[in-house]
Amino acid sequence: MISVPLVDLKATYEPIRKQVLASFETILDKMGLFLGENVQAFEKEFTHYCGADFGLACSNGTDAATLALKAFDFKPGFEVIVPSHTFFATVESVVHAGGVPVMVDVDPKTYCLDPERIVMAITPDTAAIMPVHLYGQPADMDAITRIARDRGLKVIEDAAQAHGASYKGRKAGALGDAAAFSFYFTKNLGGFGEGGFVTAADSSVYERMKLLRHHGHASKFEHVLVGHNMRPDELQAAVLRAKLPSLDENNAKRREIARRYDAAFSSLDVITPYASPDVEHSYHCYVIQTDSRDELVHHLAECNIGTGVHYKTPAHLQPAVRTVPHRAMPMAVTESLCTKCVTLPCYPELLEEQIAHVIDEVTKFLD
Ligand SMILES: Cc1ncc(COP(=O)(O)O)c(C=O)c1O
Repeated sequence: MISVPLVDLKATYEPIRKQVLASFETILDKMGLFLGENVQAFEKEFTHYCGADFGLACSNGTDAATLALKAFDFKPGFEVIVPSHTFFATVESVVHAGGVPVMVDVDPKTYCLDPERIVMAITPDTAAIMPVHLYGQPADMDAITRIARDRGLKVIEDAAQAHGASYKGRKAGALGDAAAFSFYFTKNLGGFGEGGFVTAADSSVYERMKLLRHHGHASKFEHVLVGHNMRPDELQAAVLRAKLPSLDENNAKRREIARRYDAAFSSLDVITPYASPDVEHSYHCYVIQTDSRDELVHHLAECNIGTGVHYKTPAHLQPAVRTVPHRAMPMAVTESLCTKCVTLPCYPELLEEQIAHVIDEVTKFLD
């Protein structure tokens, strides 16, 4: 039987195998492992790709979000508005940065922060809004930016799932005051290990990020800030440099597969992903909603089709949040989504027969 894994990491390696191995050889021959020429070149390339003003590679996406928040030096007790329907790292990053996560419901169509609900969550302690461009769809950035500007708040994008996605022609990473990316290996742009990236619109924020990333190190043995070890490594930078040139083409392939799924499932009793006319979705995840989610997951597993559930338990109901100061607003949309959403395989390396197998089996089950 045809097998369709949810992700196929080996398939992402094949096209770049030679280039990556050659780069690894050069790096390992020199033993220049950290913050070397690949990291510096990749920082320029990805910052330019996003259309951001400043950019810095770092250790992973959780650290990137933490670094972005810490760079603003908010006053103690600061609150950050985040969605609850996200990977838990969004919330963790606020806590790591010393802030209080304020979890807010998402828009039922886009699954991103609902601007009207953001307004209801703002208090005198609110310092920032951190929209997550969930599944590869940028949040409603005009509305969010307006809310933030009117109240003197910062907007920090969690773009961990949105490499190459755009909003009104501008790419994720250049839509706020700062942004955080993950290069976890399953991402649209992923390394073969861990990696992350921050962008900033302001040079002083960027300079602070740079210090915080590397032990507050201003010069040899001079530490001007209590920072972190959030350094990126050369090997991952070499992989990312090899992959970046095909990111747009690969995102286009994801969009094409998504269009085919949308058309095939249009007469079924499922909710297919909504893509706002303002965005170019990058389909990090192709997520449908069905009342028989668990049964569908089971059926597809029996047909050798991998699925994911992003996310089964929302952040505000995770046991971990009870251990830290936080606030949670009403969550009707999030809590419903968590019982119905399922992620189907959607990546550029999918073969024709694999796409057809997914369509056939989803249709067979739900028709
Ligand atoms: C929305 C979101 N934020 C943050 C992260 C954290 O990234 P990392 O796993 O690289 O730490 C992820 C990773 O999956 C994510 O999906």
